[in-house]
Amino acid sequence: MERRIRQLSNGVEIPIVGFGTYKLQNENNEACNIIKESIDLGYRNIDTASFYNNEEGIGKGIRESGIHREELFVTTKVWIDDDGYENTINAFNKSLDKLGLEYIDLYLVHWPTENIKETWRAMEYLYKEKKVRAIGVCNFTVKQIEEIIGFSEINPMVNQIEIHPKRSEKELLKVCKRHNIVVQAWSPIMRGQLSSNTIIKKLSQKYNKSEAQIILRWHLQNNVIAIPKTSKLNRIKENINIFDFEIEKEDIDEIDSINKNERMKPQKYENLYKVV
Ligand SMILES: NC(=O)c1ccc[n+]([C@@H]2O[C@H](COP(=O)([O-])OP(=O)(O)OC[C@H]3O[C@@H](n4cnc5c(N)ncnc54)[C@H](OP(=O)(O)O)[C@@H]3O)[C@@H](O)[C@H]2O)c1
Repeated sequence: MERRIRQLSNGVEIPIVGFGTYKLQNENNEACNIIKESIDLGYRNIDTASFYNNEEGIGKGIRESGIHREELFVTTKVWIDDDGYENTINAFNKSLDKLGLEYIDLYLVHWPTENIKETWRAMEYLYKEKKVRAIGVCNFTVKQIEEIIGFSEINPMVNQIEIHPKRSEKELLKVCKRHNIVVQAWSPIMRGQLSSNTIIKKLSQKYNKSEAQIILRWHLQNNVIAIPKTSKLNRIKENINIFDFEIEKEDIDEIDSINKNERMKPQKYENLYKVV
């Protein structure tokens, strides 16, 4: 059977399918109920962020799930407004408090900013103090990865970036691999805008799997940890049901050929830290 975990560079195990939570709300117990459903259906890797304003609901769902804390892998992130040394530590404590947890598995810098050196020093402090089991970044380019490796004492263990068939980031994947950085894909199923691509449609028919499942399996075979988000029970099931088939090499290559280096939508935070 396919192993459903990978090791980060420090040996910590991370489940290879995750659950995204952007847009899930605390209100009406939405985030709490969806998290309980997703854990019940087999997800063990949950991705949130202070920016999503749902850490309370996510934490409640985790605590009410009945699953031992050690069996779950929980990620949250420090937002750009909280960059810098003290701010990052304060933001971390707030997130921990909102989640109602004793530790975080993975703490990520949400976007690189000019204060990255100070922010990263705080991330290293939190790691050394064992408040987090792993630390990493999001949205770092090749140049930014090389820069942070140059000044860090502890290298990032994860880079969470936008990846999907229209933006495959092959060069960045290679660089991350070289530095033993695990890559996670955000917007892995193109924010649900799936129907327009003829290649994905054709492969969906060939393998008798949904278009989302084809793309999620493509991520898996590319060694990328996808974190699809959904608030629908049938899709929670669908998005993790990708372990009973394998996409042939030539079909993986065909999906790779869709790449246009396109973002699903313009990102206003991507130029806060320039490396020349
Ligand atoms: N680090 C960062 O900067 C960053 C940025 C963006 C996102 N993220 C993380 O990555 C996660 C995933 O990214 P995302 O939420 O932007 O996009 P996504 O997971 O690619 O797509 C989510 C959208 O797809 C729909 N969907 C889910 N499963 C589907 C299926 N099987 N078939 C058809 N449609 C489906 C969902 O609608 P329903 O809910 O109605 O099912 C939702 O509208 C986020 O939730 C967040 O945790 C991180």
